Amino acid sequence: MQKIGVGLVGFGTIGTGVARILLGKREEIFRRTGQRIELLKICDKDITTDRGIDLPEGILTDNLSEITDNPEISIVIELIGGLEPARTFVLKFLEAGKNVVTANKALLANHGPELFDAARRRGRTIAFEASVCGGIPILSSIATSLQANRIESINAIVNGTSNFILSRMESDGADYADAVCQAQNLGYAEANPSMDVDGTDAVQKLTILAQLAFGAVASWKEIPRTGIDSVSAVDIEFAKKLGKRIRLLATASRGENGLALKVSPTLIPESAPLAKVRDAFNAVEIIGDFVGPVFYQGLGAGERPTASAVCSDVIDTAVGRTALTFGAVRMWAADRPALPLLPSSEIVGGAYLRMTVRDQPGVVAEIAGILGRHNISIASMLQAEAAEQSDSACLIILTHPAPEGALGTAVEELDCLEFNLAKTVRLAVGAPDTAV
Ligand SMILES: NC(=O)c1ccc[n+]([C@@H]2O[C@H](COP(=O)([O-])OP(=O)(O)OC[C@H]3O[C@@H](n4cnc5c(N)ncnc54)[C@H](OP(=O)(O)O)[C@@H]3O)[C@@H](O)[C@H]2O)c1
Repeated sequence: MQKIGVGLVGFGTIGTGVARILLGKREEIFRRTGQRIELLKICDKDITTDRGIDLPEGILTDNLSEITDNPEISIVIELIGGLEPARTFVLKFLEAGKNVVTANKALLANHGPELFDAARRRGRTIAFEASVCGGIPILSSIATSLQANRIESINAIVNGTSNFILSRMESDGADYADAVCQAQNLGYAEANPSMDVDGTDAVQKLTILAQLAFGAVASWKEIPRTGIDSVSAVDIEFAKKLGKRIRLLATASRGENGLALKVSPTLIPESAPLAKVRDAFNAVEIIGDFVGPVFYQGLGAGERPTASAVCSDVIDTAVGRTALTFGAVRMWAADRPALPLLPSSEIVGGAYLRMTVRDQPGVVAEIAGILGRHNISIASMLQAEAAEQSDSACLIILTHPAPEGALGTAVEELDCLEFNLAKTVRLAVGAPDTAV
């Protein structure tokens, strides 16, 4: 029986979970797959910290060449995270003839074309299920089970930290800062949660989803992005009054003129499946032209769900499934027809505007005038006394769908109005062209 040797680089949170599965379930995996998958080496900068797992003698190393130069290792798992040296390491693994498994969305969103090209040139594969939505098998579903469909849209909650914070604000009435603290105390948010709350993490995952599902070649930096750091407790309350919930949605929607990609806190009807996704869960709704809407939900991060996806990739690579899918999906292949991206100013969607204004006659007429001049029509309006000042009022305006460009310019003009006391808060309503 031929053994398939595996090397693991990065023995942190996810690396520990991966080692637990590959060492603890070795026999079970053999019985199920008929393959002897052997974790032979684990490389980390720190090989002294006890990770709470029994390891075979000599498996740990801080010398990467014990993996790259080991002819018995044919699959290497990259779990160090970040851009460098992860990029250089992955290129080295491919150069050494290894197939790669990674959970590193930042690496793929920044260097996907280069890495996939290198893999193709060497006849090797890169598997990356864990890079989007942790334990949810979303990439393999798109790449295999939904192949018969033209995907029309994706609406997804891909950042568990943001979803946890919004859920806390919704259920406990916590303000944003308190909810972030709770997330940090429970280990859902890092000490510096900026990449989660400013939408960077979500937009990087959307870049990977959009490439896989639509062939879209998008730089994550160009995709319009708003994080949940713009959402306050009052927005959550107003959304509730309107029968809606706020979720950080990553959306991709195919239109006649191109693909609309966007990440934004979005008001969605409380009856929508995505509105019911709470705490640190992730969820993805995909609409295919034949299958219609399909919905996936699960834990998008953490040691166990993420290690589950990583190890499934290892097994798929070992049994030869990855080679088939990798060849077929042609991630970032130069000759893959790319769906053009809609310029962000042309993305159409409804908006929620929260303005704090001086309570005086003529205010509403002036606001309506500005919106009207930009062809933005008002769907509904709410007014409440602003908590901070008794002579001010809080105005909530929901607009009918309008182009981002027009909305942006109108909000700039609203912010210059003399009676406007604070910067207008703008969130998305619904997802472009879908029924969420
Ligand atoms: N955590 C999650 O829930 C989650 C979910 C989905 C995807 N992911 C992805 O999975 C990957 C790993 O995440 P993680 O949470 O396990 O990170 P982590 O806990 O920080 O683990 C990374 C490990 O790699 C080590 N390392 C860093 N640079 C190295 C180098 N040059 N050589 C050898 N070892 C090195 C680190 O050592 P030091 O600590 O000494 O630097 C650390 O032990 C990331 O790409 C992340 O985005 C994570």
